[in-house]
Amino acid sequence: MDIIRKNQALLKPNLLDYEKAYKQFSWEDAKNELSYFEDKTFNAAYNAIDRHTQTWRKNKIALYFESEKGERLSFTFYDLSILSNKAANVFRDLGLSRGKRAFIFLPRVPELFYAFLGIQKVGAIAGTLFSAFGPQALKDRLGDSNAEIVITNRALLPRVEKAKASLPNLKHIVVIDSPDFSKRMNKAKEVTHVAHMNWDEPAFMLYTSGTTGKPKGVVHRHGAILMEQLTAKWVLDLHDSDTYWCTADPGWVTGIAYEILGSWANGATTVVYEGRFDPAKWYEILQNYKITVWYTAPTAIRLLMAAGSDLVKKYNLSCLRHLCSVGEPLNPECVLWGQKVLGLPFHDNYWQTETGGIVIANYPSMDIKPGSMGKPVPGISAAILDDKGKKVSFGKEGNLAIKPGWPSQMKTIWRRPEKYKSYFQNGWYITGDRAWEDRWGYFWFVGRADDVIKTSGERVGPFEVESALMTHPAVVEAGVIGKPDPLRGEIIKAFVVLEKDVKPSEKLKKELAEYVKKQLAGHAYPREIDFIDKLPKTRSGKIMRRLLKAKELGLPEGDTSTLEEF
Ligand code: WTA
Repeated sequence: MDIIRKNQALLKPNLLDYEKAYKQFSWEDAKNELSYFEDKTFNAAYNAIDRHTQTWRKNKIALYFESEKGERLSFTFYDLSILSNKAANVFRDLGLSRGKRAFIFLPRVPELFYAFLGIQKVGAIAGTLFSAFGPQALKDRLGDSNAEIVITNRALLPRVEKAKASLPNLKHIVVIDSPDFSKRMNKAKEVTHVAHMNWDEPAFMLYTSGTTGKPKGVVHRHGAILMEQLTAKWVLDLHDSDTYWCTADPGWVTGIAYEILGSWANGATTVVYEGRFDPAKWYEILQNYKITVWYTAPTAIRLLMAAGSDLVKKYNLSCLRHLCSVGEPLNPECVLWGQKVLGLPFHDNYWQTETGGIVIANYPSMDIKPGSMGKPVPGISAAILDDKGKKVSFGKEGNLAIKPGWPSQMKTIWRRPEKYKSYFQNGWYITGDRAWEDRWGYFWFVGRADDVIKTSGERVGPFEVESALMTHPAVVEAGVIGKPDPLRGEIIKAFVVLEKDVKPSEKLKKELAEYVKKQLAGHAYPREIDFIDKLPKTRSGKIMRRLLKAKELGLPEGDTSTLEEF
């Protein structure tokens, strides 16, 4: 096996001795890392931003922003503190208060960041919505959460307008590029009362997909920021001298935990690029901003690899010193490509929307085994369990589980306590991922235990796509799977049963793909569609996606004893 031995880095890693830190760690001691109000309460947004304004970091750049059109802006911690105070005051004026939900539906623009912080300062629950979502996806999320405020822009407004009729609790749509919002922000006071929150009170929520049903609202507590701060320090190894770029979108959990909360809690200078993925542009960002720490995803790395090494050679990327990756399996080739082309390996790490922060990682001071997710973060106990909840021996595949009780473990699933409970078994949190552990304590990812799809690192539930397809008049029913793809990890593939009088055609396939893109989401549409006569179902009527997948991949079909007779 290849093991990449670490050179002595120029900068001393924050986590120098993993084994020692792991043994000595206590969450009670770690709580001292946060700043508290006199009454021992605190606020995540205060910890991310405001506390730095009491130190030399007050005028340090917190955010370098580059828009899709090339406009460049920068914000100090002090700027973000004032802007989020103002936003908090604007939202309070609109009736927002502790515990209520306000959702942000924006591309990666500065307003997204200070609105998120402003909502937390009010003590309300901040939610984010990926900007590729269509009206149906908005309806599901805003309806379930009973959000009172949506913050959006003029370009995305028509999609909110389409969803609005079925959202009786939505009181205000705030449009950031409207004269009204500018007026309100200009008028708002620069100081605000930052809500004093208890450890366990909800700070943000994020809808995520499972195998069945509509997406579920994963709720996180203010205390989650402790986990995010510590892991940003140990895993991303953020130092004050760093310029950090996390390519994730805050519509997903990585963007919240490591582009807002955990990274800023460490006082990191962060770059945000609004535009889409483009190899040349990405290299330009890495070069021009002299990025030192880069957190990205396997699909992006594979696309950069595919763009060829001639392109990368045109750029001076010598400032890079630490590379991390998350969201889907990182193939060893990607780790080694980093080493060969950038002179640095990618450090894989693993976590989920539900875990709220990185739980397994490769640390800068530790040898990397390419293909492994690394070792549990100090404060986290991870194990591989069989289906009955018993630990299996080293080298055996099983369910990846984590001992409950870490600060960023989800607080609950919004309005679905039973769903929340279903994650736990025998005193363990079950991730839904299959993995194995080697004798040295490294964890290796195998695959999902369920039908959840990861396409370009983004999590998609087959049920949502099936439901969207079924609202099209030509479709009777649909079964959706993730089909392995060398670049995107998986692509969405749909098997569609058409109405009797509808003729299958290539044109119809395109139309259905476009339809899902528009109704549901730009990233969650089927790139491949097959028309079939009948879907395989269990006797109780559940679509057997496992069988669709086995057929597609030419694999054995496994146990079909519950299959409905044809
Ligand atoms: C997958 C993203 C392999 C996994 C932060 C998990 C990974 C799901 C890795 C969560 C990794 C995440 N290697 N698979 N390093 N990291 N995953 O909620 O299936 O969008 O359960 O959170 O992504 O996706 P989510």
